[in-house]
Amino acid sequence: MVANWKMNMDRSAITAYLDVLSREGRWPRWCSNGYRLLLSPPSVYLDFLAAAVRERELPFWVVAQNVCAHEKGAYTGEVSVDMLRDLGVNGVILGHSERRRLFGETDAHVAAKTALALSREIVPIVCFGETETERLSKEHSRVWERQIAPVWKEVQKARAAGSETPVYLAYEPVWAIGTGRTAALEDIREVAGTLREAFGHDCSAGLLYGGSVTDESLSVLVEKGTVYGFLVGGAFLDPEAVLRAFHHLTTHHP
Ligand code: 13P
Repeated sequence: MVANWKMNMDRSAITAYLDVLSREGRWPRWCSNGYRLLLSPPSVYLDFLAAAVRERELPFWVVAQNVCAHEKGAYTGEVSVDMLRDLGVNGVILGHSERRRLFGETDAHVAAKTALALSREIVPIVCFGETETERLSKEHSRVWERQIAPVWKEVQKARAAGSETPVYLAYEPVWAIGTGRTAALEDIREVAGTLREAFGHDCSAGLLYGGSVTDESLSVLVEKGTVYGFLVGGAFLDPEAVLRAFHHLTTHHP
């Protein structure tokens, strides 16, 4: 489960968040049972969060919200994969619709970033998903294929070169992000089916869903066995909601 904090939180809020999560002593057991919490802070707090998580011996992954598509050099304001590695960051969210829409990120950028992340054993969490207009005009499955095809090519290249780093694909329909509307089970099944047909079985093995997920809606989707994990924005700014979600999952799916 990924908590994408987006451009929220500061050092004191992060400390308070970890204080709440530290009240729970079962994290190591939950993690060894296959549940994992990934926290994704703004890049300036990656180091602070990674150090705090290590110090408290919490088995969480620290994940960046973006990375530069170039290795190093004159890219003012950017952060490289080697810098993420240097901080002990485990993964990176790529191609979030907010980055595509507000910062002009293209499918080619996302593919280049995926390749770089895999080359440094940083787990890419690649977001894709259609806008409302694309869904209404029934173009959504073509949009998914277009967004994922260049990424998948890079994944295949990395696999051929011996990379075993997992790749997660996160279906985040733009119309569901921050709107209170979650995708229906059938929509998510359609994603899994489309990706399987277009790219082969492996592609959907690590399918995550994001878009107005709450600790309640998450339980329903898990019960139906639709997805492997979740990318949660607003709801997981509250650490109590994270605890509720883990309590529910570990009780009903031990
Ligand atoms: P919300 O959960 O706030 O809809 O955001 C989803 C998201 O963009 C996660 O990356």
